Amino acid sequence: MAAAAATFSIASVAYSGTQGSKAKSFGVRFNSGNSLKSFSGLKAESSVRCESETSFFGKESTAALRASFAPRAEKQAQNFENRLQPRASTFKVAVLGAAGGIGQPLALLIKMSPLVSALHLYDVANVKGVATDLSHCNTPSEVLEFTGPSELSNCLKGVDVVVIPAGVPRKPGMTRDDLFNINANIVKTLVEAVADNCPDAFIHIISNPVNSTVPIAAEILKQKGVYNPKKLFGVTTLDVVRANTFVAQKKNLRLIDVDVPVVGGHAGITILPLLSKTRPAANFTGQEIEELTVRIQNAGTEVVEAKAGEGSATLSMAYAAARFVESSLRALDGDTDVYECSFVQSELTELPFFASRIKLGKNGVEAVISSDVQGLTEYEAKALEALKPELKSSIEKGVAFAQKQAAPASV
Ligand SMILES: NC(=O)c1ccc[n+]([C@@H]2O[C@H](COP(=O)([O-])OP(=O)(O)OC[C@H]3O[C@@H](n4cnc5c(N)ncnc54)[C@H](O)[C@@H]3O)[C@@H](O)[C@H]2O)c1
Repeated sequence: MAAAAATFSIASVAYSGTQGSKAKSFGVRFNSGNSLKSFSGLKAESSVRCESETSFFGKESTAALRASFAPRAEKQAQNFENRLQPRASTFKVAVLGAAGGIGQPLALLIKMSPLVSALHLYDVANVKGVATDLSHCNTPSEVLEFTGPSELSNCLKGVDVVVIPAGVPRKPGMTRDDLFNINANIVKTLVEAVADNCPDAFIHIISNPVNSTVPIAAEILKQKGVYNPKKLFGVTTLDVVRANTFVAQKKNLRLIDVDVPVVGGHAGITILPLLSKTRPAANFTGQEIEELTVRIQNAGTEVVEAKAGEGSATLSMAYAAARFVESSLRALDGDTDVYECSFVQSELTELPFFASRIKLGKNGVEAVISSDVQGLTEYEAKALEALKPELKSSIEKGVAFAQKQAAPASV
């Protein structure tokens, strides 16, 4: 194993709620040279700079975006101290499918967030054990369990963020689209309940095929008269997490510095890492671009095959989903510096949904960052065109499914 470039020390891995321990934040502090930096472990420590002045934000906002991404050791140190303070606002988060392979570790990671006051765990399988187990962690949030459809409404009332990893995962040889028939119905049922009980919540869809389940969710919310495109997200964070990891390994970069935007969708060739936009800037040979792109696109299958029938990515997915939850909560908490990639309703291309970097705010998507898809290399531009037919057909499949079974209007 290669020696680590920076030395790390765990500053606080747990916090004691009201018991008065000095450590109240889930965080890791590390020393590199003389600078002290901090990160929550889940927050994207982005070093992205917006190269384009022609972002639809206009020049001023682009400059602000650039400034917001600039290295800010001082602000980061301040942020770390801020995270040690009790939070002014906290939020309720629900995980639907919480007894599953993703749901359990995701619930644990959310339980560690100082921004969460209540964690609602729902599953059709018994989720009482998971909730009881987690409730013994001495972190501030209360954990409540809800088992079976009769308890779904109560689970969702008053919730700020709903995360949906419910559904079946892939087995070797399956594509994400093979999950459509089962997961489409599960997502439909759950989103109907979200529409009825917490229509203002951020909705994070993890259940595959994301390229279809997000359009299904949008249609269901439209049928219920409560669709807010700014608050519906397909979780593609794992693609970014993987891209960052693989690029850092390949280029021997410090992992925490690396940021690779991943656009398109979340299946096979629709996953398009924009390696030319990697920050810090890195040079790749043609062969490296091809190998990295294909590895990022097939990383899910790499895990499915390694698990040999035991499911798909759960731990890295839980990590990625928890990062997206944490980013959403920071945005809800008033942080104006939150950027993530996500599969959302979009006008960036001719497709109605598209994954790209977005700016998150209190009301959800504040802006879709257009500069990432400008000035693409020939390889990326070709790959973008090549993914469109497949993504279009997955979106249309989701829309057709939802329209075939129009839901009754909300009462
Ligand atoms: N977006 C991504 O990047 C990504 C990555 C990995 C996996 N996934 C997807 O996440 C989903 C879950 O994967 P997993 O490994 O946790 O599967 P899993 O089988 O381990 O867990 C799924 C859970 O959902 C529950 N469930 C099923 N139907 C339900 C319903 N109607 N209401 C509530 N809960 C219900 C099950 O009881 C189970 O506990 C799969 O669709 C998988 O393809 C997405």
